[in-house]
Amino acid sequence: MTRARSRVGPLVSPPTTEPALDVDALLDDPQTGIIVCCGSGGVGKTTTSAALALRAAERGRKVVVLTIDPARRLAQAMGIEELDNTPRPVAGIGSEAGGTLDAMMLDMKRTFDEVVESQATPEKAKQILENPFYIALSSSFAGTQEYMAMEKLGQLQRDATRDGTYDLIVVDTPPSRSALDFLDAPERLSSFLDGRFVRLLLAPARGPARLMTAGLGIVTGALSRILGGQFLTDLQTFVSAIDSVFGGFRQRAQQTYALLQAPGTAFLVVAAPEPDALREAAYFVERLGEERMPLAGLVVNRASPAPLGSLSADEAMTASARLRRTTSATSASAALTAGLLRLHADRSRMVEREATLRGRFAAAHPQVATAVVPALAGDVHDLDGLRVIGGLLAEYGAAN
Ligand SMILES: Nc1ncnc2c1ncn2[C@@H]1O[C@H](COP(=O)(O)OP(=O)(O)OP(=O)(O)O)[C@@H](O)[C@H]1O
Ligand SMILES: [Mg+2]
Repeated sequence: MTRARSRVGPLVSPPTTEPALDVDALLDDPQTGIIVCCGSGGVGKTTTSAALALRAAERGRKVVVLTIDPARRLAQAMGIEELDNTPRPVAGIGSEAGGTLDAMMLDMKRTFDEVVESQATPEKAKQILENPFYIALSSSFAGTQEYMAMEKLGQLQRDATRDGTYDLIVVDTPPSRSALDFLDAPERLSSFLDGRFVRLLLAPARGPARLMTAGLGIVTGALSRILGGQFLTDLQTFVSAIDSVFGGFRQRAQQTYALLQAPGTAFLVVAAPEPDALREAAYFVERLGEERMPLAGLVVNRASPAPLGSLSADEAMTASARLRRTTSATSASAALTAGLLRLHADRSRMVEREATLRGRFAAAHPQVATAVVPALAGDVHDLDGLRVIGGLLAEYGAAN
């Protein structure tokens, strides 16, 4: 589908030819079972996930949204400030179409604990849960949040299949610097937990590995002096306990990976209309392709709204300069008009710049369906705000 650009006038952008993302078709398709919103930090992943979930529910689907660190006011509006790691019904949604919306906020540590409890005998679980190394790992290890988001997605999906509670799961992703972290972190975490490195570090020297581990022994000795013997004992206990429990850790990560590759899954990449965010989005799109994970499209969020009228940036700048030159400095209304013309020119240039950036992305990835959501005047912190965002997302597809 080619973008009908006439609506916004020639000053907005050079024409781009990327297909428009049809959000409502995606939400209404009963085959769509999981939507994952990815993107670099602060671009609007949480907002987009919540807005899509609400819209899908109000269009009749049984939805659960898994949010990660939503802004406090948004969490309050959705009734999920409490961290109990279980989806709760969201009050105030339109249920005329027969849909429902549950929401939850991920509690990383709790999810980790649940995995341990479900895998180990109560005695062993207790031993692990109380280990200081586990406590540090489960609440702060880089990648834990990403892994746990996937783990929770897996749980929700199993429950949904078993009980038929949900037919659509919308997943927000953690606020990492890079969108790729979401895909990389579980592998990083599970190779750590597989313990190869740690085991090597702790292994008593044996056989041909003796020379090598002798070297590592020195390292271990040094570590032990720096961190204290207790640290290494805790680590050792932790590794041997986790080994028996998490033998299948990598396998679990792989299962979730397979879920992400399933045809019912749709990835949406959210990006700000800025070079870094769009570059990051491009990497992510390429990576999804390599991993054979289904990409539904790109959401360019917080785009500068197109200024009204057909005056170009250059025309506005010229008119502004002429006004300043030809009218007396005391004419307040002329100064105001010149200022407004200048503002119009700045806005138009910004819109043009963003369109050029999008055009560059589209040239490299012409197959990626795109929706553009303008920046609203204020933050999005309640259901009405989410409805507006959902409407704008869908409107873009309908209008283009
Ligand atoms: N289209 C928009 N118009 C105005 N404000 C927006 C828009 N989209 C998002 N915001 C605001 O931008 C802020 C960041 O959005 P959000 O929390 O969704 O980003 P995020 O990608 O989830 O961030 P993080 O990476 O930290 O998790 C929020 O305050 C949100 O209300
Ligand atoms: Mg977020």
